Amino acid sequence: MAHLDENTIKEIKESNDIVDVISSYIPLIQKGKNYFAVCPFHDDHSPSMSVSPDKQIFRCFTCGTSGNVITFVQEYLKVSFIEAVDILAKNAGINVKIDKEEKQNPNKELYDIYKLAVAYYKNNLNSKMGERARKYLDERQLDKETIDYFDIGLSLDEGLVNSLSKKYALSELRKIGLSNSNNRDLFKNRIMFTIKDNNGNPVGFSARRYIENSEAKYINTMDSPIFKKSEIMYNFYRAKDFIRKQHEIIISEGQMEIIRMHTIGIDNAVALMGTSFTKEHFNIIKSLKCTVVLNLDQDDAGKRATLSIGDELIKNGISVSVIVYDGSKDADEYIIKYGKDAFISAYNNKVSFIDFKLNYLKNNKDLNNATDLSSYINESIKAINEIDDDILREIKIKQLSEEYGISIDLIKSKITNTKIKVKEEKKPALQKKMYNKYDKSEIRILYLMMMHEELIMYYQLNLGYLNNEKRKKLANEIINYYNTKKTFDISDFICYTSAREDLNEVMNEVLAFNQSEEYTDLELEDYCLRVKEYRVKMQIDTLTEKMKNTLDLEEKKKLGSRIENMKREVLKW
Ligand code: CTP
Ligand code: MN
Repeated sequence: MAHLDENTIKEIKESNDIVDVISSYIPLIQKGKNYFAVCPFHDDHSPSMSVSPDKQIFRCFTCGTSGNVITFVQEYLKVSFIEAVDILAKNAGINVKIDKEEKQNPNKELYDIYKLAVAYYKNNLNSKMGERARKYLDERQLDKETIDYFDIGLSLDEGLVNSLSKKYALSELRKIGLSNSNNRDLFKNRIMFTIKDNNGNPVGFSARRYIENSEAKYINTMDSPIFKKSEIMYNFYRAKDFIRKQHEIIISEGQMEIIRMHTIGIDNAVALMGTSFTKEHFNIIKSLKCTVVLNLDQDDAGKRATLSIGDELIKNGISVSVIVYDGSKDADEYIIKYGKDAFISAYNNKVSFIDFKLNYLKNNKDLNNATDLSSYINESIKAINEIDDDILREIKIKQLSEEYGISIDLIKSKITNTKIKVKEEKKPALQKKMYNKYDKSEIRILYLMMMHEELIMYYQLNLGYLNNEKRKKLANEIINYYNTKKTFDISDFICYTSAREDLNEVMNEVLAFNQSEEYTDLELEDYCLRVKEYRVKMQIDTLTEKMKNTLDLEEKKKLGSRIENMKREVLKW
């Protein structure tokens, strides 16, 4: 088994052709020697991302996202560098030993503790003391395999803190919510549902009582350095692959629903663990670029949550539908009561969000009563007003008109929306950034140096500096890299820059700037001249300022003639 060093990363990268990998995620169209795609990293409709098989890099000219095959996997799957390398290694059948925590996590110990805690609780469930809990789970129709698959365990009266404290500090156990302030087990006599973060590391528990008593039904881990509830959705780390394939995510409230859906073969589902839907959840879902199916509880709280989450999503152009069924509170109960086929059929017959909303508005209204009817119609028009899709809006107006005999004109007179103004948090469009001729020259020089390694020497001999500090730094890194490796491969170099905050931004700027790989000697000379010209310009500015400020006449005169000389020099260029 190879260890993950620079050469291994290179080998993994070279075994994964960028065109093959990217086209396994998104469609690519060949144009000339390059390939193009609709960029998945910003809201795009035209193919602004290009992929170069020669240089093994991709870049989007609109949002500026760029990099090599590893960067693409990282960005596309929202995983860390190490995880992306791991995925690509598997892809190429290369066996590497990747110690994710060691490489990545300053909190390695906290993750280790959680792994032990999960094993401890699982062991409890299998022990003699776990008999009653096993019976409870059996009554809820969870078989051994499912219990294991979801790492479900059991906390007993006492024991975890005692066991873990032999190896770890009590303060650490308190910090991650396994022990209370008296250094006793926080979770007692509960079924322990393991919560994993979006990378699959166990970081918390949702603990359910299994004996009827007056205690809270669920107790959950509080936020800790490794558990950020607002970012986590139960089962997301596993569901994400299914979501990508199916282009659809199911959102539920509780973990039991996710577990139950898994038992009937539905795996693209995540749970909010309650109904609070955070900005972070929203961002994750938005970046998945999939449709959303809401499957929250069928009670009033669930319906209200469905409305507010759905509103937020459709406002941002995400397509939303809702699973509805009668006779059960949630998917778990429904599947137990009516079976797999009934649920699948409810899933297939999911209703569009607008229909769900129009239907919800009828609640507690007597539509035979004129006042109620009028408020229903007014509220419906408001909902229809928010529909983004012109055609759908038209259909709904017609339906409302036919159903209640209200004239289309009247309804339309109340529709103010022609097109919802979707507030896009797009990545800033680099293209639109205005570069002056000096910036352009510097960006172009850097790009050509990376594309044609002989120009690295040319730069050192003919120019040797850039005026912009960040770009100068990048140029120096290119030289160092070249000197160490005796060759320059841009796709390898990206591995190096992407880990460097100070280089990453400028690197993206250079790559995304729309430009051709070809150049002429004249063009190159011109770029160098511009850079020099700008430097002299800045020097002139400094001297002029100095001249203005000095009271010494002799000095003023000297500065003046120096400035004149410099200006003359520049004119000669
Ligand atoms: N929840 C919680 N605290 C509570 C109740 C619920 O944290 N007091 C969270 C749990 O993650 C739970 C989810 O919200 O899974 C949904 O709650 P609820 O619908 O009440 O629970 P169910 O999933 O139906 O749980 P069960 O089927 O075990 O009764
Ligand atoms: Mn339930």
